[in-house]
Amino acid sequence: MNEKFASVIGSKQPEAANIVIFGATGDLTKRKLLPALAHMHRWNLLGPHSRIIGAVRENFSQSKWKNYVHDALLQFFPDAVLNPRSWMRIKDKLDVVVGDLAEPELYQNLARTLREADGRKNVLFYLAIPPSWYETVASNLRKAGLADEKEGFRRIVIEKPFGMDLASAEALNQTLQAHFDETQIYRIDHYLGKEAVQNLMIFRFSNSVLEPLWNRNYIDHVQISVAESLGIEYRAGYYEKAGALRDMIQSHLIQVMSIVAMEPPLSMDGDDVRNEKVKVMRAIRRMRPEDVHSHAVRAQYGAGAVDGEQVPAYREEQGVAEDSATETFAAVKLYIDNWRWQGVPFLLRTGKRLPQRVSEICIRFKSPPQTLFDLDDAAMHNNELIFRLQPDAGMRLTMTAKQPGLSMDLRGIQLDAPYAMAGSSMPEAYETLLHDVLIGEAGLFTRADGVEECWRAVEPIMEAWAREKNINMYPAGSFDVPGMDALMEGCEGGWRDLSDTEHAY
Ligand code: BG6
Repeated sequence: MNEKFASVIGSKQPEAANIVIFGATGDLTKRKLLPALAHMHRWNLLGPHSRIIGAVRENFSQSKWKNYVHDALLQFFPDAVLNPRSWMRIKDKLDVVVGDLAEPELYQNLARTLREADGRKNVLFYLAIPPSWYETVASNLRKAGLADEKEGFRRIVIEKPFGMDLASAEALNQTLQAHFDETQIYRIDHYLGKEAVQNLMIFRFSNSVLEPLWNRNYIDHVQISVAESLGIEYRAGYYEKAGALRDMIQSHLIQVMSIVAMEPPLSMDGDDVRNEKVKVMRAIRRMRPEDVHSHAVRAQYGAGAVDGEQVPAYREEQGVAEDSATETFAAVKLYIDNWRWQGVPFLLRTGKRLPQRVSEICIRFKSPPQTLFDLDDAAMHNNELIFRLQPDAGMRLTMTAKQPGLSMDLRGIQLDAPYAMAGSSMPEAYETLLHDVLIGEAGLFTRADGVEECWRAVEPIMEAWAREKNINMYPAGSFDVPGMDALMEGCEGGWRDLSDTEHAY
């Protein structure tokens, strides 16, 4: 294995496995899974006898599947196919099973194909299909005897959304658990696979200097921001029903928040980590209906300009209702009712068609207890620890120092630490996650109880918003969201300016 890559992805080598992709010709497979698998293959992280089996509809022959994979890689990971030897090695691993997802025949074909794979008993089923198919596929796999772990592992991977509210999430969990044991189920939240998110856990629990500060005594509040410049693209069908709260806050942002707030786990074992995260989720204060107005803000983008280009309003996007009240921006102020975090606001915000794509965590520390210097507002610099997750992963500590010269003027300084070391290879989130499924490390995956707790945390907001017919607007390409600043009431300083990228991280 390439040593640089091994050092970032871990040193445990996966055993050979059959990787069965349902939804083999879908967008997720093309854009994420195939490039991730090809990349892992390049670094010998797939196991020498692994196979990638596409479950495809009739009329999709072996050669058509191979051509499909070739073209997908040419578009999203050209290196894998431009070198003929590299492509031949991948091509040798490809196989297909043909059939309709709803018909037993597909699963019988799959069982036969797997039986022929001597010595490759491990199977990972990746459901890159709409959630409405999860039950059908899971029950058919069980009926065909493919869920039993008699010979090697059987793991099933699913993608969000895990339900659209608490009731549907509980129903989905029960359905899956009727066919697979919870230990066989890997629910992907791709934010947890991001390098910088994993670094957050390492950073917190490997640097003793942080622990004394990491609590209500020193931290004023925490901001977690995920801004996107893209609109909803071609996903109106899903997004109209989801909106930013369900799409991003219920999943990615609360997951990230739980890593910021969790207690040190007993070990890095999957369940030890998830136990601590779930404790945080359970401690999130349920918002009272009368508080939703002051603790949660939603808005929708109108027409505007992003990166100098005119873009249409959300309501003008294809497939969106003319009077849609779906939020494309959501911000919430949450509290974690436990010993460490009592009274510390966690502000989570996300939106589409914002000025630029940037995700970061900002831990803002309290001001010193006494002001010794003659400060005006401009000279005040709260200490901030910033974890930039994307596009350029890195950390920054902001501090206050003296302005050189005879006066006692103050200035803010930044200590920057870019995350990527020169020459190191940063795996994509899907590579890390696929690798972890193959080696059976579940810590980066959401457990059933975690999914349900995240829904509980946002349900009061969902319910209140469902009763409102009107929604505020913000111009695409701006942060002019009505009510956003009011959420910061009682917090030191305002929202962080996400365009503050003066220094490379
Ligand atoms: C997905 C959401 O889970 O995450 C999308 O459904 C969103 O709406 C995406 O665009 C953001 O992911 P990333 O990795 O680009 O920040």
